[in-house]
Amino acid sequence: MNILLFGKTGQVGWELQRALAPLGNVIAVDVSSTDYCGDFSNPHGVAETVRRIRPDVIVNAAAHTAVDKAESEREFAELLNATSVAAIAREAAALNAWLIHYSTDYVFPGTGDKPWCENDETAPLNVYGETKLAGEKAVQQFCPKHLIFRTSWVYAGKGNNFAKTMLKLAKERETLSVINDQFGAPTGAELLADCTAHAIRIAQQQPDVAGLYHLVASGTTTWHAYAQLVFEQARKTGITLAVNNVNAVSTEAFPTPAKRPHNSRLNTEKFQRTFGLVLPQWETGVKRMLEELFTSVTL
Ligand SMILES: NC(=O)c1ccc[n+]([C@@H]2O[C@H](COP(=O)([O-])OP(=O)(O)OC[C@H]3O[C@@H](n4cnc5c(N)ncnc54)[C@H](OP(=O)(O)O)[C@@H]3O)[C@@H](O)[C@H]2O)c1
Repeated sequence: MNILLFGKTGQVGWELQRALAPLGNVIAVDVSSTDYCGDFSNPHGVAETVRRIRPDVIVNAAAHTAVDKAESEREFAELLNATSVAAIAREAAALNAWLIHYSTDYVFPGTGDKPWCENDETAPLNVYGETKLAGEKAVQQFCPKHLIFRTSWVYAGKGNNFAKTMLKLAKERETLSVINDQFGAPTGAELLADCTAHAIRIAQQQPDVAGLYHLVASGTTTWHAYAQLVFEQARKTGITLAVNNVNAVSTEAFPTPAKRPHNSRLNTEKFQRTFGLVLPQWETGVKRMLEELFTSVTL
């Protein structure tokens, strides 16, 4: 099986390189690849890449993910998150290939406190959410053999993440303020990549699983409770922190160009039932990532 992976160096893309490897021959590209175009600002280029490689499966982990920046560069975000996705979806359909694509809870308005189901009405609050929704629609319209995974609050061990930022601040400051009125489930890029690989295997045997799924770790938290867990784990490991006061504040305390949803909860029953998988509690992945961080040589 030939698998074409776009966005190989992002949080999810990096983990996909590992998780997809046992499934077949993975050709992984990113924005600076030279053999094949992996630049989503060039829809013709990425379409040409699909035509040249003729993959059985395309996994797209590339995206314009700078949520605040997207507010001031709508056209560019649209090009990456929708126009190029549409171009790839058309080529995938022409080859009868599977297209695996990621989306976000930001397609929803973030109201209420119920976990969103796949068929709940969408109403994005910001440009990023609008362009991701357009990308979903393009995949659905042009490529029937698709899996779209809406996820949220993605973290990875590689690169920067919320836990690392909190730890850095907690070493420098006695008081921190962290948002406590946004609810979601921190979801590891590792978990997303492993679930994607399992789902591709199932899809190969049961093409009728094609569709849209919510895929996040189980449970719910807030950024404030997430930060508290990070500090608790750090102290247990013997790391000295300066912080002794972690204020719980509302979203309004940190104004940003893009509006953020309060309710990022996603109902994952459909995914778990269809693919026969159990999504672990969010703390499991976060504690594992922290343990790796605490024992890494750079600390
Ligand atoms: N991160 C989250 O919390 C979150 C939440 C919900 C859904 N998602 C979705 O999950 C998927 C994976 O996200 P992620 O967390 O892995 O994000 P990420 O780490 O930001 O990865 C996105 C990748 O796309 C790349 N990219 C940027 N501009 C590009 C271009 N012109 N052409 C090709 N690639 C380009 C980025 O490169 P650079 O790093 O060099 O810019 C990066 O490697 C995306 O579809 C995202 O919308 C993410």
